Amino acid sequence: MIPWEQLGRATIPHQSGELVFSRRGDEFSIKLSGIRGELMNSRVFNSEQVLSQRGCAHIKDQDGASVLVGGLGMGYTLSEALKSVNSHASVTVAELIPEVVELNQGPLGQCAGYPLNDPRTTVYVGDVKTLLTSGKPTFDAILLDVDNGPEGLTQSANNWLYASEGLDAIFAVLRPKGMLAIWSAGPDHLFTVRLKKAGYRVHTEVVRARKGKGSRHTIFLAKKMA
Ligand SMILES: C[S@@+](CC[C@H](N)C(=O)[O-])C[C@H]1O[C@@H](n2cnc3c(N)ncnc32)[C@H](O)[C@@H]1O
Repeated sequence: MIPWEQLGRATIPHQSGELVFSRRGDEFSIKLSGIRGELMNSRVFNSEQVLSQRGCAHIKDQDGASVLVGGLGMGYTLSEALKSVNSHASVTVAELIPEVVELNQGPLGQCAGYPLNDPRTTVYVGDVKTLLTSGKPTFDAILLDVDNGPEGLTQSANNWLYASEGLDAIFAVLRPKGMLAIWSAGPDHLFTVRLKKAGYRVHTEVVRARKGKGSRHTIFLAKKMA
């Protein structure tokens, strides 16, 4: 058996934890120090792809469509977003940790087919919050996979995203009929209630971690109707 080899570590801004990147042949892993299990494994990505497919379904053929992906990780959501829109669309990916971007420009990029090299991709290295607080309707789809669900995992500052303040800010930067899609490890009834209160029409979908098997994840699909 090929042993795991550590590719690097990265500190998480404003947090004591670290991300640990490892590789075993063509398999990659991202772990959060102090948490059991993996944040991501390169062999498990079905629900990350479905997040983009559902979140971008309404803009498939729309010239000039603008998509924001929150959290680069191993690039599966970004790569699928690029496949889900046409050649005149643009996709911005916000990633908090510079080392994640650097690794995706290098060895990690092979997982999802080097989506950072696509000319439609723009990378923002920093907190996705910055792009969600402009108050200007900018995005037709916002795809968020920065935590394990609607509570801050990678960094507690992310809790803001899932509270009414964050949901209102996101509503403001979505264009009319825009879609907010959020990945979650499981259902969260109270979060659905908060989304509805913020004015979204909400639908949830249960998606397996691997095609047809594995854990059941939840995708929240929250549409801005006006
Ligand atoms: C679970 S991974 C995303 C996986 C990704 N969907 C994929 O397909 O590979 C979460 C990522 O979000 C990033 N992240 C966490 N909080 C963030 C924030 N506030 N702004 C931008 N990126 C963030 C983490 O550094 C990590 O790379």
